[in-house]
This record gives sequence, C-alpha cells and structure tokens, in this order.
Amino acid sequence: MSTLVSAGKVSQIPAGSMKQFKSGGLDILLANVGGRIFAVDNRCPHMGGNLSKGKLEGAIVTCPLHGSQFDVASGQVVRWLKGSGLVSAVGNAFKHPSEIKTYEVVISDDEIQISI
Ligand code: FES
Repeated sequence: MSTLVSAGKVSQIPAGSMKQFKSGGLDILLANVGGRIFAVDNRCPHMGGNLSKGKLEGAIVTCPLHGSQFDVASGQVVRWLKGSGLVSAVGNAFKHPSEIKTYEVVISDDEIQISI
C-alpha cells in the first residue's frame, strides 16, 4: 500500500527547473517539464551523483558527475556515462546501466504529493 507524502509547491519549481526533496530516508528529484511535475530518485544509479545538481533539458536530466542521462518521465537510461573512451569503458564494465525509480505524482491545487 502506498502513502502520499507532501513535497512542496508547484509554484516553487518553475518550468524547466528541478528541486531536491529530502525527507526521512527519501532523496527525490522533482522536475518541472513543461508544467508537469515528475518525481524520480535523486541519486544516480552509477555512483550516487546528485541529479538535482545536474542539467535538465526537456525531460532529460544529466548527472553532474559522469554525464549519464535519464528520462525523468520514464526513469529510462538515455545515455550511460559520457564519452566512449577508456574511462567510460571501464565504468561500463563495473557498473551496468540501470534506470532510476519513478514515483507517481499527485497535484492538488499547488501542492505536490508523491506516492511512496
Ligand atoms: S554518478 Fe552519475 S554518471 Fe557517474
């Protein structure tokens, strides 16, 4: 059974921007993509990069550490590590691409609630 957790106001996250939401053991990235709010795990599955410190382009967030990219709408990997050199090859060998967890978002007036 899931629980709804209040995660702030839509008006605090302008379109095209992101915000980190931490509460208890949760560390969630909230992203406003064209007026729609998405919630995903904030920690990159590669080595725990803080995605909220990365870059959001459309629905794609880029990890600030090694450039992996994820779709905040689906959680799917768009790119696993940046570049195709030796560092990327070694990184791929030790840690395989994995999606980020997505959370259902419920908006009530200006209030963001996340289903956990
Ligand atoms: S920690 Fe995100 S790409 Fe390495």
